Amino acid sequence: MELKIRIFPDPVLREKSVSVEEFDGELKELATGMVDVMHRYCGVGLAAPQVGILKRVIAIDLFSDQPQNRSPMILVNPVVTAREGEIVWNEGCLSFPGIYQEIKRSEKVRVKAQNVEGDEIVVEGEGLLSVALQHEIDHLDGVLIYDYMSFLKRKLVKSEMKKKRRQLGKDYELGREL
Ligand code: CO
Repeated sequence: MELKIRIFPDPVLREKSVSVEEFDGELKELATGMVDVMHRYCGVGLAAPQVGILKRVIAIDLFSDQPQNRSPMILVNPVVTAREGEIVWNEGCLSFPGIYQEIKRSEKVRVKAQNVEGDEIVVEGEGLLSVALQHEIDHLDGVLIYDYMSFLKRKLVKSEMKKKRRQLGKDYELGREL
């Protein structure tokens, strides 16, 4: 599946994704395609709406930028069931190339989800994994790093992204982003 990253302010990024009911070949193809895209851009995580698919699917790999250590994880219908503590992280996002925002989130989370077979799984994360889980789950509800920015920064980011969309065209390369 050839997938492309949607860049802010693509309206699809604002949509709410729907739960996955069918654990079929199409879902597996989407999962594989998302992992490929995430690795290609060295992203720590990717949510299906970022490739224009409004399904509750996220991919995470803390080692995307280390090809020999990669260990991608796919979570379908993820839900945070427990949280603890606070952490502030300077977050990036593949849909906002070159833009970062400090965001306060839970330091530890427990997430209930399903794998691509439909089996229930539980993931517990702290630090970067916790941040990535919360960031990607935000995407499934149309919530973006933009929403955590001040009024002034939003104005700046809007005009910066306009410029970037013109420069980047349909594809782009960048470093480690969420
Ligand atoms: Co993101």
